[in-house]
Amino acid sequence: MRPSLSSRLKVLSDSPMKIIASLLGPAGANVIRLHAGEPSLPPPLELVDQVVDDLRRPESYAYTPVTGLPELREALAEDLRADGIDVTPDEVAITSSGTTSIFGVLSAILDPGDEVILTDPTFMMYRPVIEYLGARARWVRSPPEEGFQPDVEAIKEAIGERTKAIVVVDPDNPTGRLMRPEASRALAEVAQDKGVYLLVDEAYRRIVYEGSYQSPQRYAPDNVVGLGSFSKDPGVPGLRVGYVYGPKELVEAYAELNGHMVFGASNASQLFVLRYLRWRGREAFIRSVVEEYRRRRDAAVSAARRHLPSAKFMVPQGSMYLYLDLSPLVSDSERFAAELASRHGVTVMPGTAFGPSGRTFVRVTFVSQQPDRLEEGIRRIGAALS
Ligand SMILES: Cc1ncc(COP(=O)(O)O)c(C=O)c1O
Repeated sequence: MRPSLSSRLKVLSDSPMKIIASLLGPAGANVIRLHAGEPSLPPPLELVDQVVDDLRRPESYAYTPVTGLPELREALAEDLRADGIDVTPDEVAITSSGTTSIFGVLSAILDPGDEVILTDPTFMMYRPVIEYLGARARWVRSPPEEGFQPDVEAIKEAIGERTKAIVVVDPDNPTGRLMRPEASRALAEVAQDKGVYLLVDEAYRRIVYEGSYQSPQRYAPDNVVGLGSFSKDPGVPGLRVGYVYGPKELVEAYAELNGHMVFGASNASQLFVLRYLRWRGREAFIRSVVEEYRRRRDAAVSAARRHLPSAKFMVPQGSMYLYLDLSPLVSDSERFAAELASRHGVTVMPGTAFGPSGRTFVRVTFVSQQPDRLEEGIRRIGAALS
């Protein structure tokens, strides 16, 4: 008998996609979906007419360069510079999503046997890809009692011979913390001293409620690599556009790989983003989105205080999530999330998707529902706990 080919597939280990699929089940109208980081406000509709005009031109259907449309690279570099990130257009590349930025950059830098330092908790897409590439994730806890700030000393200690990179997400998914400027600077200096990359995932760069995001790029431009997305600002996840910035050689290595993965990102999607970055109304638009998200965050926080009095959590300063510690009532967050979905009609992400410390945590998205539905979802979590 020939061995079955399917048993020899190279699959991702413990992919969070499986967790998401298991939560979905039959979609009832009464199910309140609080698990996905999906924006719920429409993007600027006045740009749509302009893009429809763009699409009447045949060149809008051409392949684009593997680094993205040159005008978009220029607009993005300008946009990043306005936020204090000092890059030229040849130090940025357009990608087909933040997810592609993650896969592409990790593929460009990792050899089998390498190590990557991940904060625990961190965004769920990193660990499976690192392991898929034959490298190892080394977890360093960001203590909740320190507001989930990265523990810079412990990260420094954890760097070894095979460490290639440190990953931080700022503003963070799942915790909503914004890194303190001192921590950001200290991490950049550690990366520089130790000769490793600092990958900073800034998908939520403009989704900030208190303070403002500052990239560590200025402190170590040869070491810091930014990974970005246009899914949250302007809120077009279905168009699939993201970016990377960093040292020119890394951007080139990424682009070469991209040439073998997707070639250039979608031309039409890049035109939309180009129109957005060049749009006069851009700042006012994103400010109004953040205002609305802040209203929903505040509604979620007060609902959590009312319905989940024993939950421990931090009021998020950015991104889209409440990260709730439900100990001692919950000790197996995957089982709890499955039960919530099947018996109580509310979906949340179990904390185990974000790292080893997540067994007692669940992540609740507060942007995707109106305050009354959010309140009802959180009430149901309280009912399940009692
Ligand atoms: C921290 C972080 N990075 C990257 C991404 C990927 O974004 P996308 O692939 O939609 O551009 C997400 C999506 O939720 C995210 O939360």
